[in-house]
Amino acid sequence: MTRDDSRIRQLGQALEAAERILFITGAGLSADSGLPTYRGLGGLYNGTTAEGLPIEAALSGPMLQRDPALCWKYLAEIGRACHGATPNAGHRAIAELQARKPGCWVLTQNIDGFHRAAGSPAERLIEIHGQLAPLYCQACGREAADAERRLAGPLPPRCDACAGVLRPPVVLFEEMLPVEAVERLRRQQAIGFDLVLAVGTSASFGYILEPLLRCRTAGGFTVEINPATTELAAWVDLHVPGRALDVLPQAIGHISEQ
Ligand code: APR
Repeated sequence: MTRDDSRIRQLGQALEAAERILFITGAGLSADSGLPTYRGLGGLYNGTTAEGLPIEAALSGPMLQRDPALCWKYLAEIGRACHGATPNAGHRAIAELQARKPGCWVLTQNIDGFHRAAGSPAERLIEIHGQLAPLYCQACGREAADAERRLAGPLPPRCDACAGVLRPPVVLFEEMLPVEAVERLRRQQAIGFDLVLAVGTSASFGYILEPLLRCRTAGGFTVEINPATTELAAWVDLHVPGRALDVLPQAIGHISEQ
């Protein structure tokens, strides 16, 4: 048995034994669906935009107000990439485990909607950076149907009723996190988790690192699934160096049918 096989077996045993499980997922989980990650090799944020701006400035709340056409140019790029892709075996493996374990939750930074599409129950899915649809009007609040069609049309997309600029319910840079999602995370953290797994994330934000650190401090087991070694290496009990698409189905496949 190779070292990686033994790590995957160890991961499968931890998943089988745990009741309260939290998957913290990032762009790396959707990388296997063909979506760009944000940092690291080929990351969306590694360069500056054609306008010479850091992408974090172009995709910020203030930019959506100041220059909606510029902000929407990059929002539409992300939206089109998501609409053109589908969930992968990693998303499906997590959803399958959630179906078997009522205490299994997902905290995702991804806005692609792939966890919902793969079957993760909405009541145990915290989308901390929001979702790409439905678009809504910033001026009158009306929801606008067919986000995908509008991404292909003139930008910024405008409200059919009042011509106000539409936006998706995502968290742009320099914007607050959705209160409802933060509250759900807080409630679940108060109950605690036996096992926290960081899957495909550089854990760039404190609210992403915190659940993992809390689990570790409380004596739980912490895991990172990532081909690269990140800052999380110092905080996890087990690092499985691989793609989520490969590791998760194998690890969850080890769990006997209950
Ligand atoms: N399987 C697992 N991990 C992978 C894979 C893969 N196939 N491919 C890449 N990775 C890892 C990379 O090594 C990297 O550590 O996924 C991680 C992706 O990190 P980021 O690109 O920083 O993405 P993420 O952590 O989700 O970013 C968090 O930053 O700007 C915000 O809103 C944005 O939600 C995003 C957040």
